[in-house]
Amino acid sequence: VLRLASATGPAWVTRALAGLDEVLVDHAHCEKKAASTALSLVFKYAETPGLAATLSALAREELAHFEEVLRHLAARGVPLRKQTPSPYAAALLQAVRPREPARLLDTLLCMALIEARSCERLWLLADAVDDASLAALWRGLLASEARHQRAYVELAAAHFPLPAVRARLDALTRHEAAIIAAAPPLARLHA
Ligand SMILES: [Fe+2]
Ligand SMILES: [Fe+2]
Repeated sequence: VLRLASATGPAWVTRALAGLDEVLVDHAHCEKKAASTALSLVFKYAETPGLAATLSALAREELAHFEEVLRHLAARGVPLRKQTPSPYAAALLQAVRPREPARLLDTLLCMALIEARSCERLWLLADAVDDASLAALWRGLLASEARHQRAYVELAAAHFPLPAVRARLDALTRHEAAIIAAAPPLARLHA
C-alpha cells in the first residue's frame, strides 16, 4: 500500500469547510475526470493484459460516484458550474516520462497517488464536516477510492519489475508532496 510523503494539515480542512459548495463542485469534476482518465487508458492500452477489465470497472465506479455527488449538489441547490481546476493533477502528470513503457508505469503511479491523496482528504472532510449527509457521502467513498489506489499500483506491479515500480513510486511520491505543498490556496480537493 502506498504512503503519501506529506500529511494534509488543518489549514486545508478549514479552507475546504469554508468553501463547502465549491469543494463539492470540485469533487464532482474530480470523479468525472477520474472516470474519463481511466477510460482513456482503456483506449490507449487495450492490449495490456488485465488493464482494460480493471480500468473499465474503475471508470464505471467513478461515474457512479460522479452521479452520487451530483445528487448532493442538486439537494443543496448548487449547479455543476465550471471551475478553474487546481493545477495539481496537471503538475503531477508533468513528471510522466514521454516514452513507453515508462509512460505507462508513470501514469499508473500518478493515478494511484491522486487516488491516495483524494482518499486522505475525503476522510478528513468526512470527519470534520458538520453535515450528516455529506459526511455519509465522503465516508461511503473511502473504501472504493482506497481500492482504486491499490488497483493502479497492482497494474504497475503486474507489468513492471518490482524494484523499478518501487523506485519510481518513491520519486513520484516526493514529487506529489512538493506539488501539494505549492498548490494555490483554493477550496479544492487538491489545493
Ligand atoms: Fe471516485
Ligand atoms: Fe477513485
